Amino acid sequence: MFENLEPVVADAILGLMAAFRADADARKVDLGVGVYRDDRGETPVLDAVRRAEELLLRSQTTKAYVGPAGSPGFNQAMEQLVFGASHPALAAKRVRSMQAPGGCGALRLGAELIRLAAPGAVVHVSNPTWVNHVPLLSGAGLKIQPYPYLDVASGAVQFEAMTAAFGKLPPRSVVLLHASCHNPTGADLSQSQWRELLAIVRTRELLPFIDMAYQGLGEGVEEDAFGLRLFCAQLPEVLCAVSCSKNFGLYRERVGVLHLVSASPAAGNAAASQLVRSARSMWSMPPDHGGSVVQIILTDQALRAQWLEELAQMRRRIQGLRSEAVRQLASTCPQRDFTFIARQRGMFSYLGITTAQVRALREHHHVYMTDDSRMNLAGLRRENLAYFAQAVAQVLA
Ligand code: LMR
Repeated sequence: MFENLEPVVADAILGLMAAFRADADARKVDLGVGVYRDDRGETPVLDAVRRAEELLLRSQTTKAYVGPAGSPGFNQAMEQLVFGASHPALAAKRVRSMQAPGGCGALRLGAELIRLAAPGAVVHVSNPTWVNHVPLLSGAGLKIQPYPYLDVASGAVQFEAMTAAFGKLPPRSVVLLHASCHNPTGADLSQSQWRELLAIVRTRELLPFIDMAYQGLGEGVEEDAFGLRLFCAQLPEVLCAVSCSKNFGLYRERVGVLHLVSASPAAGNAAASQLVRSARSMWSMPPDHGGSVVQIILTDQALRAQWLEELAQMRRRIQGLRSEAVRQLASTCPQRDFTFIARQRGMFSYLGITTAQVRALREHHHVYMTDDSRMNLAGLRRENLAYFAQAVAQVLA
């Protein structure tokens, strides 16, 4: 059966993870895969997570199935975190939530629902977008088209080109938006741009599919959800895929949720039943451990406060690294403007160097970033910042 299968190359991020692991050089710098790292280069288990796990271990009485929609307590806690406690869509009972295996599971589940409702639908994704968006969405049978997004020269969003493209889309087109901390560019929409976009999305009758994988790692938990909350309050239908990988540091536990905002509670119920059937046919039930941990943290006042503080520390460290990277690059590469790095948010920026230069960084200096020059700022440390800036200067020379 399988003897004719051709080997395929790993995607840009997975391939880089393997290459980094295989590199024995002590100076190596991992700016590849998007995981948060502390100043020792480690991805720690958060203290709030450890304490919640201890509580869970002591209190859990069964490992029986939870159900295809996941834990109602987790889903509700996530609704409050994502939308904010007094959101009008929650008050109007227009939100239905499905726990999913990570943000990826949530994206795939949302894509399945779109295909069921509108076979042949086109999802318009930012150019560039996260490498796994395309296989995740097209794997559900959806067509993918890019829309203009990054202005490479300024490192900001090419907003006029983006809105012009949205203004030409046919009704029922799906637009995939990043809530904050855009992956891979770090270029986010401002609040006024979200408002402007809302008017176009409403007039053109587009369906926003919002991916929020970094809530709290950009400006703050509330600030990073601004656009998502605005769209969900003002539009009849929105899909939101949310990940707890980064902001709770629960990567391998696979914790995510899909929130569906529907025009009415009845429409929400029908769509939710379809989502249950799709989940059942793909993974049957989501994993529970990480979701229970998140639920405990979010519903315990002291643990929630501790988590918010740990999240703020991660955010501050990334912002500090952004400023420091700009400072160091300004001294090693004075001919080039890298100040956009400090204006961007989240873990990623496009350094804006060529693929050949990226490969030279890897081969000669053991600095790893994806070929498109996406770098995970959180991979930098006080002790390797200067080394990194000198390596960049050498490949640019
Ligand atoms: C990334 O963009 O590097 C992360 O979201 C990890 C992944 O799965 O690609």
